[in-house]
Amino acid sequence: MIGLQWGDEAKGKIVDLLTECHDVVVRYQGGANAGHTVVTGGQTYKLSLIPSGILRSGVQCVVTGGVVLNPPSILGEIDGLRSRGVEVGGNLLISDRAHVIFPWHMVEDRLTEGAARNGEAIGTTMRGIGPCYRDKVGRANAIRLGDLYRADFRERVERIVAHKSRIIAAIAGDQPTGQDADRLDAATIAADYEQYAERLRPHVADTTTYLLDTLEAGRRVLFEGAQGALLDIDHGTFPYVTSSNSSGVGISSGAGVPGRYLNRIIGVVKAYGTRVGGGPFPTEQDNDLGQHLRDRGNEYGTVTRRPRRCGWFDAVAARYTARLSGVDTLAVMLLDVLSELAEIKICTAYEIDGRRVTVFPSQVDDLRRARPVYETLPGWRQEISHVRALSDLPPNARRYLDRLSQIIGRPVEIVSIGADREQTIQAIHDSGVDE
Ligand code: IMP
Repeated sequence: MIGLQWGDEAKGKIVDLLTECHDVVVRYQGGANAGHTVVTGGQTYKLSLIPSGILRSGVQCVVTGGVVLNPPSILGEIDGLRSRGVEVGGNLLISDRAHVIFPWHMVEDRLTEGAARNGEAIGTTMRGIGPCYRDKVGRANAIRLGDLYRADFRERVERIVAHKSRIIAAIAGDQPTGQDADRLDAATIAADYEQYAERLRPHVADTTTYLLDTLEAGRRVLFEGAQGALLDIDHGTFPYVTSSNSSGVGISSGAGVPGRYLNRIIGVVKAYGTRVGGGPFPTEQDNDLGQHLRDRGNEYGTVTRRPRRCGWFDAVAARYTARLSGVDTLAVMLLDVLSELAEIKICTAYEIDGRRVTVFPSQVDDLRRARPVYETLPGWRQEISHVRALSDLPPNARRYLDRLSQIIGRPVEIVSIGADREQTIQAIHDSGVDE
């Protein structure tokens, strides 16, 4: 299951629904930059790193080595779930290969963003995600979860803190480094992380082998993508992206699972567009319409509470990411948010330097110059949150779904018309695709 836009496609709800027919749910990239909201049994749960499968008994949740892990943050999630009576024990496995986020990563995130000039800031979530992935690729200063249990852990932290402190001082100049920089004390950090490690110990496992065994045994595994495919480090709107492979291509490397096991991919889209952070967004509506979508859709970041930028559905981008992620069917979320509009637009092409294009540009400068070419459809102007069957949707709502499906080239399998699990329309009852 992959988000096909810039994240925040309400994937948490889809994962929750799909979990019903899976034995294992896997989170395989990103970190606590993601946030999932799941509404079930009248209760709202906000999860970040832990797969929402944790809310169902009998489901095994796995956080793989492709993820970057902030120990206090995941421990906070575990405590929060337990305090609400949710069991978190052997049903949560965390890879010993996952790279660990340390306080210096947060400081580096802030400094990099603070130093960005001329509107070039990425607008990160400041969770230290990028700097941690950078250290993973650089190797010399990286620490994986398994390393927290090694005898030389303290020594490693001391060496890295000395190194990072020099770098931070050099690049900070007169920039404020924030409180955390003053707290880069190796002994304190090592002691804190040893405590976190002890608390996490029951969950730590070689999840690559676990997943290979599980798949070979024919069990049903759901891979839950975080962020959205347009934020993919290699295939998204670089450099305004996150630092992991958030499109479908990231499943194999992030989880350590060969592509041959991926037999059905659901692409999740919101019925309109949103983006949080910097970077081009051709269909953005920085006007009353954008504000209307933000209000109706409660478009404020789950993690940072930042107001999301809102706009029309960009079918050029969604068609690209559906192909990139090998999507079989679509889940269209938040359709109810469009209910009050007299007409609705879909971006079907871009005009770049006078040329009409339907291929998503590989260069961010081209995307910046792209002017959306819209197709206008009539709205339905009636509430649809109570609808449970496709045939009960107003004809114009069905027309809108059909047109999205046609342009993206994939059938719509699920339509969501409200946050609750019940507010869901199964558009295809038998998709004809093996699970
Ligand atoms: P980072 O992942 O914190 O480095 O942020 C990089 C970019 O990805 C920024 O534009 C963030 O706003 C965006 N981003 C990261 N995680 C999410 C998410 O879960 N939803 C939407 N945008 C995200």
